Amino acid sequence: MLIGHKVIMKDEVPSTNQLAKALAAEGEVEGTVVVASTQTAGRGRLGRSWTSPPGGIYLSVILRPPMDATLLNRLTVFSCLPVALAIEDVYGIQAGIKWPNDIIAGGLKVGGILAEGSSMAGRTESVVLGIGINLNTRPEDVGLATATSLLALTGKEVARDAFLHTLLFRLDAFYASLLKGELDTDAYRSRCQTLGRVVEARLGDQMVAGKAIYIEDGGALVIKTEEGMTYSLSSAYDTTLREEAAQEYFRQ
Ligand code: BTN
Repeated sequence: MLIGHKVIMKDEVPSTNQLAKALAAEGEVEGTVVVASTQTAGRGRLGRSWTSPPGGIYLSVILRPPMDATLLNRLTVFSCLPVALAIEDVYGIQAGIKWPNDIIAGGLKVGGILAEGSSMAGRTESVVLGIGINLNTRPEDVGLATATSLLALTGKEVARDAFLHTLLFRLDAFYASLLKGELDTDAYRSRCQTLGRVVEARLGDQMVAGKAIYIEDGGALVIKTEEGMTYSLSSAYDTTLREEAAQEYFRQ
């Protein structure tokens, strides 16, 4: 097992991604995982912060994949698949995915992933995959109206280390498939709740709205505008899901 051969447990850190990146820069080997009970400066995608109260699980995995742009895109987008699968294993519920990598349960966000690359002399040397999941988080600590915790949703409190064990197993299998070029991208598509919905994406200073019609094998989201234009969005774009269903938006 590559991912999780070494696990560093911390009570409180500013951010497990920050710590894992520092360790990676010092030469820490691939597969090492940093786990914390709480974070004081948890980071989210697109420069947002990630509230990290006790009860959640916050971890970062140090990876040193071949530095191929297609593979890195696939890694960042599809990495939420093993997280969804671990939730399904442990809780016996269907987990959804909001593209690129929000984990959804009961229609609300229960987790997210932040992949960060570290460069040395302009060359990416390692990738830190940061995962935050609202596991046993008390509902009043979740903080966002659009989010919930698995405890709030299922009433089931799970041992964090048992969950971690399942998650590391799933992540390890995912990473091995990714490297072998055998990723089951359909397993992602079937859980992806963004497909068929209307999304808005910021492209530079322009907002583009369209129906999400496909996820490419490389991880890009393809949207089609009312005028019939298609755009292939990389995970770097800030996309928001429109409230109304696609059928209503594209009424004839
Ligand atoms: C998002 O949905 O915006 C991504 C959230 C990622 C949060 C995790 S928690 C562990 C790791 N350390 C961080 O500072 N962030 C990630």
